[in-house]
Amino acid sequence: MLLPAEIQENLETEIFGRREIFYFTELDSTNRKAKELAAGGVPEGTLVVAEQQTKGRGRIGRSWHSPLRTGIYLSLVLRPRLPPGEAPKITLVTGVAMAETLLAVTPLRPVIKWPNDILIDNRKICGILTETSMEMDAIDFVVVGVGLNVNNREFPDDLKETATSVCRETGSPFDRPTLVKEFLKQFEHSYMSFLRSGFVSIGKRWKELAILLGKEVTVHMIDRTCRGRVMELDRNGALLIKGENGDLERIYSGDIQVD
Ligand code: BTN
Repeated sequence: MLLPAEIQENLETEIFGRREIFYFTELDSTNRKAKELAAGGVPEGTLVVAEQQTKGRGRIGRSWHSPLRTGIYLSLVLRPRLPPGEAPKITLVTGVAMAETLLAVTPLRPVIKWPNDILIDNRKICGILTETSMEMDAIDFVVVGVGLNVNNREFPDDLKETATSVCRETGSPFDRPTLVKEFLKQFEHSYMSFLRSGFVSIGKRWKELAILLGKEVTVHMIDRTCRGRVMELDRNGALLIKGENGDLERIYSGDIQVD
C-alpha cells in the first residue's frame, strides 16, 4: 500500500512528501483534489495519493486508467515563484524526473515523447498532467499529476496495444513505495535545480532522453494539424517544427504522431 508512513520512511527529500500526505483508498482524481487543497492554501510539497481513481484525468480531456493498488496515482502541489510563461517547463522537468526514476530503480530504458509521455518500446508507461493556476503576473500554484503503470498485468482492449507497465516489461511485480520515494527525490532535485539555475541543464538532459528530435511527425492541435520535422526543443520548452513549406513553427501543446 502507499500509506503516508510507508512513503515517508527513509524518504530522501526536504519538501516533496514532507508536508501533509492526503491518502485515499479511492478518489475521483488526485489532480482535482490537489487543486482544491492548493486553492485552500496548502504549502508546496503537499502530496495527494490514491490507491484507485474513479475519474483519473489525462491530457486533452482523456481519462487515465487507474485500477486499485496497481499503479501510482499521485499529485504534488508546487508554488514556484515564476512568471506564468515558465509553467510548461515544469512538465518537462517532471518527465526528466520520472525517466531518471525508472533508470535508477528498474532495469528499464525509458524515453520521453514530447511533452510528457514516458515510453518503453513505444508503449506508454507513464503520463503527466500539469495544471496551473495563474494570477495576473505570477503563478499561484501548479499541480503536477503523475500516473505510472506499475503492476498491471493486463490492460483493457483500448489500451492493449499502446500501454505497458513495469511488471509487464520486467515480468515481476514491483514495490510501489520504492518508486514513489525515488520519484519524489528525483523530482525535488530537478525542480530545485530548475528554480535555482534555470532550464538549460534540465533541457539538455531532456534532449538526451527524448525520442522526437529529427523525426518526421504530425502534430494534432486543438484547432488544426501540422506536419514536419522536429528540429529542436527551444529554451522555453516548445518544440520547433520545420513544416513541409520550410517554415519553422513553435508548438506549445499538442499530440504528436511519428510518421
Ligand atoms: C496523460 O494524459 O498522459 C496524463 C495522465 C495523468 C494521469 C495522472 S494519475 C494522477 C493524476 N490525477 C489525475 O486525475 N490525473 C493524473
